[in-house]
Amino acid sequence: MYQPVQYIEGKAEFRGLELVVNKDVLIPRPETEELVEEVIHYTLHITHYTKQCVRILDLCTGSGNIAVSLARELPGAEIVATDISEPALKVAQENAARHGVSENIKFYRGDLFKALPRSKHHGFRAEEKSLEWGLPIEKNLKFDIMVCNPPYVKKGDFDFLQKEVREEPYIALYGGNDGLDFYRRIAGEAKDHLETGGTLFLEIGFGQAKRIIDIFSIGKIYRVERMVRDFAGIDRILWISLL
Ligand SMILES: C[S@@+](CC[C@H](N)C(=O)[O-])C[C@H]1O[C@@H](n2cnc3c(N)ncnc32)[C@H](O)[C@@H]1O
Repeated sequence: MYQPVQYIEGKAEFRGLELVVNKDVLIPRPETEELVEEVIHYTLHITHYTKQCVRILDLCTGSGNIAVSLARELPGAEIVATDISEPALKVAQENAARHGVSENIKFYRGDLFKALPRSKHHGFRAEEKSLEWGLPIEKNLKFDIMVCNPPYVKKGDFDFLQKEVREEPYIALYGGNDGLDFYRRIAGEAKDHLETGGTLFLEIGFGQAKRIIDIFSIGKIYRVERMVRDFAGIDRILWISLL
């Protein structure tokens, strides 16, 4: 057995927070701390000018590391966090409670965007009413900012993963034959859940940058704004906005 020490101890540190982790969730990585840093800088920048509250979606939340640290560091933000794994969501909810931000984050289970409720159920901003009928209009829940660290390991790379990494949930790692399945799906669906001009922050794997940029360049729906390298000099975070 090559149990990662974080699973044995049941905890991991992320942006100075002690988070509960178990074998149902990916152990948060330092690269993802940088992803959160980018989201925070960007959010503080836009809210400085607009003074508006932002709505942020953390897709594939896992332990809730991204959502919980954003809620702690951006107390005015409305945050929605989703994952397909029920046990992972339990861990994320526990982490939100431990760090006093349960009220700031709504958690939903489901396959990517299918997890999201229609607007009349989400309970954040005032419900919109149809003028004609006085009935609630069902609309997609939309976000100013989306952040996602999806599974991105390709099939052929599993044999080369460190033994500790193989102890982490397969569902948190496997990104399809070429590792890009989630990016293709997100490119196809994010536009329906982002406000115009909204921004998507994606963590990406080693050597995937060009192909992911190509995916988001199809159809002039998005603009790739920036690629950020991690502390090891590897292209790691992609900023994309909806045109
Ligand atoms: C790479 S982990 C990221 C976890 C966490 N956000 C982080 O940064 O450490 C990917 C997460 O995606 C979830 N996931 C896998 N397939 C999914 C799907 N189809 N829809 C939503 N979440 C999914 C997994 O359960 C896992 O928690």
